Amino acid sequence: MVAGGGVIGLSCALHIAEEFPNWRIIISDTATRPAVTSRAAAGMLAAYAEFDGDSKLFQLSRQSLEYYPDFMARFHLGTKLYDCGILIPALEGSDEGADENANLASKHAEATWLEGEALRRAEPQLSCRRALRVPGSIVNARLLHDDLVKRACEYGITFHSGRVSSLERNNERIVAATLEDGERIACDHMIIASGSWSQSLGNLAGIDLPVIPVKGQVVSVSAPDGFLRHMIHAHDVYLAPRAGEGVIVGATMEEDTFDEAVLSDVNQQLLALASKYVPAICNLPIRDSWCGFRPKLPDGAPLIAWQGSNLLVATGHYRNGILLAPITGKMVTALIRERS
Ligand code: FAD
Ligand code: GLY
Repeated sequence: MVAGGGVIGLSCALHIAEEFPNWRIIISDTATRPAVTSRAAAGMLAAYAEFDGDSKLFQLSRQSLEYYPDFMARFHLGTKLYDCGILIPALEGSDEGADENANLASKHAEATWLEGEALRRAEPQLSCRRALRVPGSIVNARLLHDDLVKRACEYGITFHSGRVSSLERNNERIVAATLEDGERIACDHMIIASGSWSQSLGNLAGIDLPVIPVKGQVVSVSAPDGFLRHMIHAHDVYLAPRAGEGVIVGATMEEDTFDEAVLSDVNQQLLALASKYVPAICNLPIRDSWCGFRPKLPDGAPLIAWQGSNLLVATGHYRNGILLAPITGKMVTALIRERS
């Protein structure tokens, strides 16, 4: 049984269903706004823009980025992956944050600096002295989530509406989960993939999962496809083009709150930040805005591991759960294989 039907729970469930076709797999999730965070994501597969090339997390992220096309093909996911690359701008003057950000990414062997006419041709709307181009793709996270749910149903995975509210144990093993409506589900294995809500499930299971939510609000503006050719990933804001849906500008980083309010003055602040890099963004009409809750563990890295004799945990994917979903499903299945 998988507790949580976001991209992480779904990727785990699909990989397991493929490897163990005779297993009965159940995903439980809340009835109201399931996968709110997965569906809120900008969908950037931004391994090269977010991590130092030496970090373990970068290696894991790069593996997941490389696996993405195979993952989509493996599970017949029709959502399109746009390999548009990322530009990390460096500003004129003394914006040390921007330079530091670009310098970090410039350590990647695949990074190239663009400036002058070459930069203007590559990204006509971008206004900055120079920008670092790094590899990166983007996917529409809502369509991806819809697609994953559809495939899961086709694989015979069943969805039960309602959060897990208690767990039954027999010695070290979790033997059943009870949902909010009282339904009892017996299980051989339990996977906690409940994103920002994993701490309370950890409590039910008797393990410490100090995951906190980091709220992110984004705003999208209407723009024709091609308005931006790349994702723009600055240290203080990003602009993520979404085919047919304009440009997503994000995002706030608000620690330890599940407040669902989406505020119009925050939208204006995000657009003001974005206009430092793409001045024309402020002339575009706002299309939509929303928020989600990134699951963060104290070290900022995900936990993908056994935490009991039949309890697996896959949580804490923080800013990069869309990117890391494919590799997480693969890793969880490998962990199960080792014990089967
Ligand atoms: P979720 O999608 O939150 O799914 C967990 C599910 O578990 C939820 O539906 C919840 O209701 C359910 N649940 C909770 N408690 C229980 C329970 N007791 N029983 C059963 N189910 C339960 N990542 C990227 O890679 N690229 C991006 O560009 C990107 N942009 C982002 C932008 C924003 C604004 C935000 C907020 C996040 C962004 N992320 C991005 C991060 C990414 O969205 C998350 O890391 C990812 O969605 C986490 O997936 P998840 O499946 O763990 O969590
Ligand atoms: N990775 C983008 C975000 O978390 O907002």
